[in-house]
Parts: sequence; C-alpha cells; structure tokens
Amino acid sequence: MSTFQAPKGTYDLIPPHSATYLAVREAIAAPLRNSGYGYIETPGFENVELFARGVGESTDIVTKEMYAFETKGGDRLALRPEGTASVLRAALEANLHKAGNLPVKLWYSGSYYRYERPQKGRYRHFSQVGAEAIGAEDPALDAELIILADQSYRALGLRNFRILLNSLGDQECRPVYRAALQDFLRGLDLDEDTRRRVDINPLRVLDDKREAVQKQLAGAPLLRDYLCEACKAYHEQVRELLTAAGVAFEDDEKLVRGLDYYTRTTFEFVHDGLGSQSAVGGGGRYDGLSEMIGGPALPSVGWALGVDRTVLALEAEGITLDIPAATAVYAVPLGEEARRVLFRAVTELRRAGVATDFAYGGKGLKNAMKSANRSGARLALVAGERDLAEGVVQLKDLTSGEQTAVALDAVVDEARRALG
Ligand code: HAM
Repeated sequence: MSTFQAPKGTYDLIPPHSATYLAVREAIAAPLRNSGYGYIETPGFENVELFARGVGESTDIVTKEMYAFETKGGDRLALRPEGTASVLRAALEANLHKAGNLPVKLWYSGSYYRYERPQKGRYRHFSQVGAEAIGAEDPALDAELIILADQSYRALGLRNFRILLNSLGDQECRPVYRAALQDFLRGLDLDEDTRRRVDINPLRVLDDKREAVQKQLAGAPLLRDYLCEACKAYHEQVRELLTAAGVAFEDDEKLVRGLDYYTRTTFEFVHDGLGSQSAVGGGGRYDGLSEMIGGPALPSVGWALGVDRTVLALEAEGITLDIPAATAVYAVPLGEEARRVLFRAVTELRRAGVATDFAYGGKGLKNAMKSANRSGARLALVAGERDLAEGVVQLKDLTSGEQTAVALDAVVDEARRALG
C-alpha cells in the first residue's frame, strides 16, 4: 500500500468489478440512444451560481454539499453536484433550442460530486447516466423517459425496484398549496432548523424521515387536493400512458425531490434491497429552470440514474451480468524466436478484431499457462522452437485441453474458426 488512500467517501473502480460498472452504464444508455437522445458532455465544474440558481439556494445540495472553490483567476466555481443545470446551460449556449427541432433530447454519463456524509450507497464522488428532453410540454415525453429507465433496469435483470410518481404542480397551483402547507406546519411542534425550513422550503419538511416529525404530518394538506385543472389533466395523461405501456408505478403524494427546479411530474426509482439509500434514480419535469438561469421558457423533463446504486441493486438481487471475457486468445511463446513470431501473430489477431493478450516478461510455460487461464481466454497460442521449425503453432482449447497444430500463416483464420 502507498502512503495515500482514496479520499473519504470515494472508491476506485478496479477490474474485474469495474466491468460491471461499464456494462451498467451501457445498459442505461442503450434505450436512450435508441430513442433519439444524442450524447452530450459538459465540464466537471461550472460557475457556482448556475447550481445556486438552478438546483436552489435552500437545498442541501447547494447549502451543504457543494465542492465550491475560487480559482487563482478569481472565478467562483463548483464541482458539478448534478447534471441537469449544466446540460440545460450547454444546450442554451449552443442554441440547440433554436434549431427548430424540439424537444432537444440529450443523454450523458459522468462523475458528480456531493460533500455528503458517506455511507453504503452514498458517496462524495458518484456516477450518473442521465437524460434530458428540453423544450416540449407533452405528457408522452414524461412517460417516454420513465419507460426507458424501466426498460434499462429490466434489461439488466432487475426486478425488485418500484417507481414512485407524483405531481408537484406548477407556478399557478403550487404557491397556493405551499401557503396552506406552511399554515399547517407552523401549528406543529418542530425544532428550530425545521421551522426555518418551513419558511424557505416547506415541501421538504414532508420528506423528513424522523418519526416524531412524520407522526405530526398525518393531517397535512396534500398537494393532490390543490393541483389546478391543467396539472391534474397532465398528470392523468402521464399515468395513463405508463399504464398502457405496462409500466407499474405507485402514486406517492409525499414524494419530494431534493432539487428545487421540479414542476408537475416527479418520480423516483427505488430499490427494496438497498436500505436507507434506496433511490437508484430520479427525475421529473422542470418547466421553469431555463428561465431561472436566464434562458427563454423551455418546458423540459429528465432523469438521472445512479450507476453506483444500480450496481448495488444488482448485488442485492444476486444478479451477475453476463460479461464476455476481455481476452479470447492468449499467446504463450517458448523461447526468443517464438516471442518474436507470436508477438507478430498477436498484433495480427488484434488487427483482425480478436481480443488477444500475450505472456510478457519471459514467463516459463507453467506460469504463462496459469496467466492464460486467469485471463479467461478460450484459446492459447503456444509455440516453441520445434513448432517454428515446422512452420506451425499450437492452438490449444483451454476448456477441453485439446491441442491442434495450425500453419503460422493461418493463425487468424483458425483462431476465428475455433472461437466460432
Ligand atoms: P438526484 O435524485 O439528486 O437527481 O440523483 C439521481 C441519482 O443519483 C440518485 O437516485 C442516486 O442513485 C444517485 N446519487 C445521488 N447522490 C448520490 C451519492 N451521494 N452517492 C451515490 N449516488 C448518488 C439529480 O441529480 C437530477 N439531476 C436528476 C434529473 C435529471 N432531474 C431532471 N433531470
């Protein structure tokens, strides 16, 4: 071990385990790629104001969890705690919304940073794959995103997840509800911190996990009863489209997300095998965010799924992904001349697209064969002086142990044939 360790709340992705992470990212991205979403990548840091305004001044993410810093040039930046504000900023900056093709559909995959109290499933550096559909108000778009997330989880083999669905209303009906909720909350016996939260962000109080608070919330006014006709109709359409698609969901009036930009549809994917960090993904509509960051009105919807927690969910369900071995052919040279000849064969095999590795470091036969087996390769390519004198190499099937001599210039074809 070196003097250094990974910083608190972070961990390294290491082979072979890291292959599962890549496969999860791929599995989440595949349905998006297949549905008109284009790939976008934005910087790992942004002007801190973007998140303060976008995610919300009163959220935990902005007040407690942001890695904010000042550069030598005096810029106030923050490592990105989430992707939505950045993606919208980039789309506006590139005028994607003016190209006359709304919604602008984008997907992304990357690292995010939150200074949270680390525990299983909650890290300071984590990965998300996300999708944003910018510039259209259409319940089918909300439904599309939920259906695609569901599709990717099912493709991974996950079964023990649930979709929680809610509507947070819009600029018209939410303020009325907010005031009613504040009235109710001010009549309760709450600590000072929570009372302050009642003033700035009363909906978050509904999300308080403490039993003493939850007990008092029993008679709280529900947003459902305050939704305006337009929001109600919109929500009903989202629900109908999901039902028609065969995607099961649960109505959860108490679902409040940790970011302030949401309007109308909000949802969370929760997994029942993960303990307290059960949200594997979440998202919703954010019709006002563009204006909040200085853009035009662009009603939008999106989600992000957490890669780390999705991997934990796979583990919780005992699912091992079927990941093909990284190496198909492993070359074992015996002697100097064989080294040169087999190295050339390895290069040819790789150029032909066959995943091939080589016994480096002048290992003896026994050790080299051990490495061949460990690599997961199905074939070993073995050659010694006698083989070379005959112009052949030995192609050994590592499962059956069967060995055949093949002409040196036919190695690529023979290996391909043997691999099927
Ligand atoms: P979020 O709910 O804050 O939403 O994060 C989405 C997912 O990222 C979570 O469900 C979780 O799986 C993962 N995640 C968040 N924080 C951590 C952490 N500290 N450690 C491990 N995993 C974590 C958003 O970020 C929104 N931008 C989603 C969205 C996109 N809404 C609209 N568009």
